[in-house]
Amino acid sequence: MDHLTRINLTGWDDVLALHHLTAGQINDITGDPYDHWTIARKEINYADQHVPFIYRRAVADHPDVKAWADSLAAASREQAKARIMPSVGRHRSLLLLGPTGTGKTHQAYGALRYLAPTGINWNWTATSSADMYAALRPRAGVDSETEFRRYAHARLLLLDDLGAAKSSEWTEEINFRLINHRYENQLPTILTSNVLPGELMERVGDRVASRLIEMCDRVVIKGTDRRKQAAA
Ligand SMILES: Nc1ncnc2c1ncn2[C@@H]1O[C@H](COP(=O)(O)OP(=O)(O)OP(=O)(O)O)[C@@H](O)[C@H]1O
Ligand SMILES: [Mg+2]
Repeated sequence: MDHLTRINLTGWDDVLALHHLTAGQINDITGDPYDHWTIARKEINYADQHVPFIYRRAVADHPDVKAWADSLAAASREQAKARIMPSVGRHRSLLLLGPTGTGKTHQAYGALRYLAPTGINWNWTATSSADMYAALRPRAGVDSETEFRRYAHARLLLLDDLGAAKSSEWTEEINFRLINHRYENQLPTILTSNVLPGELMERVGDRVASRLIEMCDRVVIKGTDRRKQAAA
């Protein structure tokens, strides 16, 4: 699909309002495949197809998450000045910490949805760390290194639930190689971990924690388990 036609914007009112945009602007068809609105339509469709169902209406309503996303969009736009199609720039990452059910994954997908109408080619990749390990497990017919590069080299990566699975030497090596690559190349990453800041080192090891602390804006999501609230 070339995104030179109007798209369905059901569920995007809150995000558009945060950007002071209207549906009419997003669906302004100029015929230019690289104009702001065409890229925005592509990214909105991408989010609609790739955000998991329960987060499909998620909005990054935490001010620090929104501020990080604004900064990433501004830096990407600045770095892409000479290019036909603005894409993800080098930038600090975002680390969302906090107890179970407080809304970390919601904020993470909320940030990706918030970025969609900014006219930048995000083409993000999202995985949980458990799903990533499963995808990387050596098996017949799959080149684990190629799979690894899909995550390590992703322009914008959401890595959900870092440090949640029981660790092994193998998962620690994957975590280290992934975080180190993203750290050295300043590739923006949204990470969530089900810990409080003081517990990070114990959960992911000091070499990964040290890099995360330097490369990330840290946001602690406070509150109680929203799933229990919903069940009550
Ligand atoms: N700001 C919000 N507004 C409305 N619903 C929310 C918000 N934040 C979270 N929720 C809902 O609360 C539930 C828990 O949120 P979420 O899955 O993001 O928690 P989490 O911190 O990632 O938990 P875990 O550590 O178990 O992964 C989900 O059903 C989610 O849709
Ligand atoms: Mg989560």
